[in-house]
Amino acid sequence: MIIAIDGPAAAGKGTIALKLAKHYGLNHLDTGLLYRAIGRLMTEQGLDLDDAAQAGEVARKLTPKDLHHADLRGREAGELASRVAVHPEVRAALVDFQRDFARAEPGAVLDGRDIGTAICPEADVKIFVTASPEVRARRRTDELNAKGRDVPYERILAEILERDERDSHRSAAPLRQADDAVRLDTTALDAEAAFQAALAIVEAGH
Ligand code: C5P
Repeated sequence: MIIAIDGPAAAGKGTIALKLAKHYGLNHLDTGLLYRAIGRLMTEQGLDLDDAAQAGEVARKLTPKDLHHADLRGREAGELASRVAVHPEVRAALVDFQRDFARAEPGAVLDGRDIGTAICPEADVKIFVTASPEVRARRRTDELNAKGRDVPYERILAEILERDERDSHRSAAPLRQADDAVRLDTTALDAEAAFQAALAIVEAGH
């Protein structure tokens, strides 16, 4: 079984994907980490993120151990990721790894932006997870505050809107709902309710 979870930043994809993978005993790949790692490696090597050829080169050399880089989960890496993710060379270099991961036994949950549309169009279940930008920004701000980081809500909201804009309007595999994906709006749901709703979608699809 392959489950594709796509959607914008902070809509709840990651949590849903992890919980579904655990529930069904499937592998899980957070595909955002691939783009985050490329952005980080390029900055460390002093490369220009807008240079498509160099970005493609770094993407082709990416190894699974690069995904354990210490600082991939933060806001800065997210911003770098969304800049390198616009290059078709980068996206092409990551296709085989993601497809091989999806097809390996016992099956997998992949979350990202283009899983249902480009990476696994044949996925058994596709869920497009979304939520209002304001709620997504509120969740991110609360997460950061809980870690003792005092970042203003307005700044997080602006970053989220900017990332949505770039991810949705790039020409290479833009963020969009696949025709056969089920839309799950988590605006009014907590993490557990969102997982239960996702579970119901998967069960109905089988
Ligand atoms: O999901 P996450 O916030 O980790 O993704 C970081 C960025 O990587 C996204 O904003 C997007 O630009 C890019 N990405 C992508 N395709 C994916 C996953 C992530 O373009 N499948």
